[in-house]
Amino acid sequence: MSLRLRLTLLYATLLGGTLLLFGSLVYGLVSLVLVDQVDSILAQQSANILKSLKVNAAGQYDTRLLSEYQSGASNIVFQVWGTDRHLQYSMPRSWQEPLDPVGRQIGQTVYNTTFSLGTHMRVVSVPLITPRGPVGTLQVGVNLALLDATQRALASVLIFLALLSMILSAWIAYLVINRELTPLATATHIATTITKADDLSRRIPLAVPAESEIGQLIQAFNSTLSRLENLFTTQRRFVADVSHELRTPLTVIKGEVGLMRKFREIDDGSLDSIEAEVDRLTRLVGNLLLLAQAESGKLPLDLKSIELDTVLLEVFQQVQTLAGDKIKLQITGIDQISIVADRDRVKQVLLNLLGNAAQYTPAGGLVTVKLERVADKARVIISDTGPGIPAEDLPHIFERFYRGEKSRTRGQGTGFGLGLSIAYWIVRNHGGSIDVSSREGQGTTFSVLFPLTQPA
Ligand SMILES: Nc1ncnc2c1ncn2[C@@H]1O[C@H](COP(=O)(O)OP(=O)(O)OP(=O)(O)O)[C@@H](O)[C@H]1O
Ligand SMILES: [Mg+2]
Repeated sequence: MSLRLRLTLLYATLLGGTLLLFGSLVYGLVSLVLVDQVDSILAQQSANILKSLKVNAAGQYDTRLLSEYQSGASNIVFQVWGTDRHLQYSMPRSWQEPLDPVGRQIGQTVYNTTFSLGTHMRVVSVPLITPRGPVGTLQVGVNLALLDATQRALASVLIFLALLSMILSAWIAYLVINRELTPLATATHIATTITKADDLSRRIPLAVPAESEIGQLIQAFNSTLSRLENLFTTQRRFVADVSHELRTPLTVIKGEVGLMRKFREIDDGSLDSIEAEVDRLTRLVGNLLLLAQAESGKLPLDLKSIELDTVLLEVFQQVQTLAGDKIKLQITGIDQISIVADRDRVKQVLLNLLGNAAQYTPAGGLVTVKLERVADKARVIISDTGPGIPAEDLPHIFERFYRGEKSRTRGQGTGFGLGLSIAYWIVRNHGGSIDVSSREGQGTTFSVLFPLTQPA
């Protein structure tokens, strides 16, 4: 059953139930009031009739005066019964059947609803008591036809109104629910189309207020689509980048092999070139594997307490040896700090950052390194006086395969553009953070924060 039908039924049933309850209450109350009114008429009539009854010398009620009694109402019947169940008087005379056979024997005033001569009656039975004891019963009855008709009319009106309002409200509810749910149906339809067409660039138009439930659903779905589209684009670009990086070394290797085959001699230069390219490929594959692990948070970390200052000094010396006299490397401050981390990975981060600084800073430049403690973190700051990173590159440098314009045009055989993304993910996996600030033409500063301890 559809949601709109279920909601409509629920609404109509609830309304119907409520109306039924209130209707029954009204009906019961009105009936009570009506019967009460009938009873008070009966009480008055019986009191009046009793006044016309006299106890004679034999201790009997004298019914002779009764014939003069005028009830003033055509639907009143009354009877006088002796204790021997003998009918002494009846008005009208033809009414020989007892009005209320049970009430005759009770010995006190009772009101009962009965059927006598096939007529629905309300009857009061009043015991007739003389000083010598009970001698009989007076019964006064009133025809309930009018009351019954009133009750029937009331019931019909109540049922009719309840049904009418139920049908009306179900109809209105259906229209309203239908209108409210139409955007949902549209959204579902478009979502299905998107899935079928495999077109993640499409979005569901927001045809309802953004803050409504359906509006929020549509927005959530759209942002899921954006995220998916983003992921697919990244994935596609990644495959393209990897293929591109793989192709160059493979072309070089094939070329060198071709040369050797042609000249039928093993050339040392070619072998060196092949070895270099194979090393490069190995490095690329290793880096990619590391990145894949780090990005999915599955990088195995060999956590130990390490002296960060010692590690930094080691890296510093390594880079200094490589850079030679090209640039000046300087330590501006180094605190003794131990952190809990994976030594090799931390070393890799520092080597990437310091390596970049040494690599991109032109001859005669200065690279400074500083290690300090801030609150419960260790901070490494690496600054250079190099060319800086253009503002439009800055947001992207931590992305895989991203290389600045200048580094790219520097030609093949240089980096892959993976160093910073690897550094970023290693630091992230250690619960730290990495920041960069750069001014074009003036230099770049990277700052890395490592927590001192690792959560268990
Ligand atoms: N200290 C720096 N000064 C100027 N530009 C920098 C500096 N560090 C990084 N960059 C820019 O950021 C880009 C990305 O750096 P990243 O280390 O990720 O890649 P790479 O050095 O080109 O290659 P790889 O590190 O994989 O060998 C670089 O290509 C360069 O343009
Ligand atoms: Mg690098």
